[in-house]
Amino acid sequence: MAVAADVHVIDHPLVQHKLTLLRRKETSTNSFRRLLSELSMLLAYEVTRDMPMHEVDIETPLEPMRSRLIDGKKTVFVSILRAGAGILDGMLQVIPGARIAHIGLYRDPKTLVAVEYYFKVPADMDGRDAIVVDPMLATGNSAVAAVDRIKETRPRSIRFVCLLAAPEGLAHFRAAHPDVPVYTAAIDRQLDAQGYILPGLGDAGDRLFGTK
Ligand code: URA
Repeated sequence: MAVAADVHVIDHPLVQHKLTLLRRKETSTNSFRRLLSELSMLLAYEVTRDMPMHEVDIETPLEPMRSRLIDGKKTVFVSILRAGAGILDGMLQVIPGARIAHIGLYRDPKTLVAVEYYFKVPADMDGRDAIVVDPMLATGNSAVAAVDRIKETRPRSIRFVCLLAAPEGLAHFRAAHPDVPVYTAAIDRQLDAQGYILPGLGDAGDRLFGTK
């Protein structure tokens, strides 16, 4: 498929190597968690690449200098429960001062529609850069619903980060939110009838938390 300008596939060798290890069915819960955290650090690096900066005066032990800091209020990570927690962990290692929002959405198993059961964001979202995280952009229903809700809080910018995207979910998300850039490690082949990504990595939440 042709990839839109605002869809960033992070084709770095380290990312692709770790993703291969993560996808394997033999990968243990422990290794899955560690690899997802490492991948998230690398994705955090890419998603923050074009953040606006400003100069400040500082002093090194040797002399004064002008140096740069990221502009504006602290970034807010928006974790889509429950698998978003796996990405959050790695991203927080790179941006430890970030604020955190949680959106609880489950997929109705029959309709695959996203149903909200939890929503908690920092009170002062305006002026913040929101990075919405969920490992799997499958049907796109949860991602679209999460970004709908985050837009209501009026952050300065919104970006969406996942590990794997299905072409169907990506098309759905881009149609609903063409203004929100997507960062992913891979775009897989298709969805199956149950809404799983093929070849994918299985159920990200179950693999992360060892619940199956
Ligand atoms: N959610 C998952 O955890 N895996 C998929 O393949 C699709 C949605």
